[in-house]
Amino acid sequence: MARDQATIFSFRCLCFIIFVLSVFSSISFVIWSQYTGFFDFQNQVTLQNQNQFINILSFPSAWNHLSFPTGPPPKFLKIALFVKKWPHKHRAGGLERHALTLHLALAQRGHELHIFTTSSLNPSFPSFPIGTLYFHLSKPTAAGYLDQAVVWKQFQHQNSTGKPFDVIHTESVGLMHTRSRNLTNLAVTWHGIAYESIHSDIIQELLRTPEEPLAFSLTERAMKVVEEVKFFPHYAHHVATSDHVGEVLKRIYMIPEERVHIILNGVDEEIFKPNAAKGKDFKKKFGIPQSKTLVLGIAGRLVKDKGHPLMFEALMQMLKENDTFRETAIILVAGDGPWSDRYKDLGATVLVLGTLEPAQLASFYNAIDIFVNPTLRAQGLDHTLLEAMLSGKPLMATRLASITGSVIVGTEMGYTFSPTVASLKGTLYRVWHDGRVVLERKGQLARQRGLELFTATKMAAAYERLFLCISNDEENRDSYCTYQPSFQ
Ligand SMILES: *[C@@H]1O[C@H](CO)[C@@H](O)[C@H](O)[C@H]1NC(C)=O
Ligand SMILES: *[C@@H]1O[C@H](CO)[C@@H](O)[C@H](O)[C@H]1NC(C)=O
Ligand SMILES: *[C@@H]1O[C@H](CO)[C@@H](O)[C@H](O)[C@H]1NC(C)=O
Repeated sequence: MARDQATIFSFRCLCFIIFVLSVFSSISFVIWSQYTGFFDFQNQVTLQNQNQFINILSFPSAWNHLSFPTGPPPKFLKIALFVKKWPHKHRAGGLERHALTLHLALAQRGHELHIFTTSSLNPSFPSFPIGTLYFHLSKPTAAGYLDQAVVWKQFQHQNSTGKPFDVIHTESVGLMHTRSRNLTNLAVTWHGIAYESIHSDIIQELLRTPEEPLAFSLTERAMKVVEEVKFFPHYAHHVATSDHVGEVLKRIYMIPEERVHIILNGVDEEIFKPNAAKGKDFKKKFGIPQSKTLVLGIAGRLVKDKGHPLMFEALMQMLKENDTFRETAIILVAGDGPWSDRYKDLGATVLVLGTLEPAQLASFYNAIDIFVNPTLRAQGLDHTLLEAMLSGKPLMATRLASITGSVIVGTEMGYTFSPTVASLKGTLYRVWHDGRVVLERKGQLARQRGLELFTATKMAAAYERLFLCISNDEENRDSYCTYQPSFQ
């Protein structure tokens, strides 16, 4: 017996060595150095392949790295979603956009989705041509939350009608911990936790001028973390939208590892993709001259905590101090908010476009050479970065843990800077020096990584597997919760 095992073991070792050698020999060193991150991961899977099967709930990295079968789901689930707000038009924050993208994809795969959300005052609540999507609306509380007693009643009614729910999903505290307590088939996705916000608070405090009042007390924020550490365990399963948050939930919030799962956000890869012709048309439409050899793009809500005061100051200084920069660069600003008018003050080099519809936004990404996101919000994972990546554009963003840990993980796909005017300026000058050829190369690598990790399809496949695994299906639990690495 022991000898058999030893034989099998050495046989496996041999297979492993042969496999590694064949991988090594088939790639040149140049490619190797460019894709180090990717092959690190391949090696990791290879090692796990020694055991053949992985308990997926204990998978330590982002599930986006795994490949799930693309066919129809093994089972159609009845899913309850609790979300404070369902997106209205294009004015949606990260949490709502995640809710929309994910659950539309799941409904399209045939799952029965019941969405418990607040009714907005606008009568034109969006309708979707999907037969398996049901909305259960209720009036929000004064603070804008879901009225827990009301939604619980609605939920119970649905749970006893037809078949009971297989799984319950809540976007942040849509369903509060007082109700989630004893539910084992429940997952919560966190879009910003108090521990991450402390980083934003520190940045804002450092940028505060003496005249401005203190925005919030750091002590209060620390107490908020303590509160969260106490109530988070009342949710059975946790989804972190960045590697960093996964780590914090395990280490600081002390949630057992097999209850913390990292599933990075995804965006619609059918909308956001490279299309040079669209980019050209967009430039023509907005009269961007050929002499502009660098087109910088900014998009999103133009508010203080997205870093626009910092960006404004950096651009103002650069346009003033360097004529060549002013003549050869142009900055496109999409979105609206209080900083829109300030940007207009910077003259013709900064083109303020207002809010763009998704189709126009896709063209916008195609028109730019690099996407710049100066956000100071450490919470969640910004969707605009992922859209730009899938459009094949390199990124430049603030050095926040969620961004450097999951998105701009190396210089091969972009640039990061500290949230100071000096660092931002220095990085913008570097981008300008590097120029279009370098940026295009980085953009291609960004697109590759985007396709690997950040598509809506990838995200939906990962959630589907999580939901299958945690649903009350004892019979098939082993097969749903086991992942067999496959090499494709
Ligand atoms: C939903 O209904 C099933 C079947 O009756 C029951 O076992 C389950 O506890 C119910 N879920 C909740 C959260 O009440
Ligand atoms: C959860 O279970 C505990 C112990 O069984 C019980 O005291 C508590 O009322 C339950 N909570 C909810 C919200 O059902
Ligand atoms: C603008 O910046 C470039 C690169 O740093 C530099 O070579 C050039 O001298 C600067 N021009 C002015 C007018 O400062």
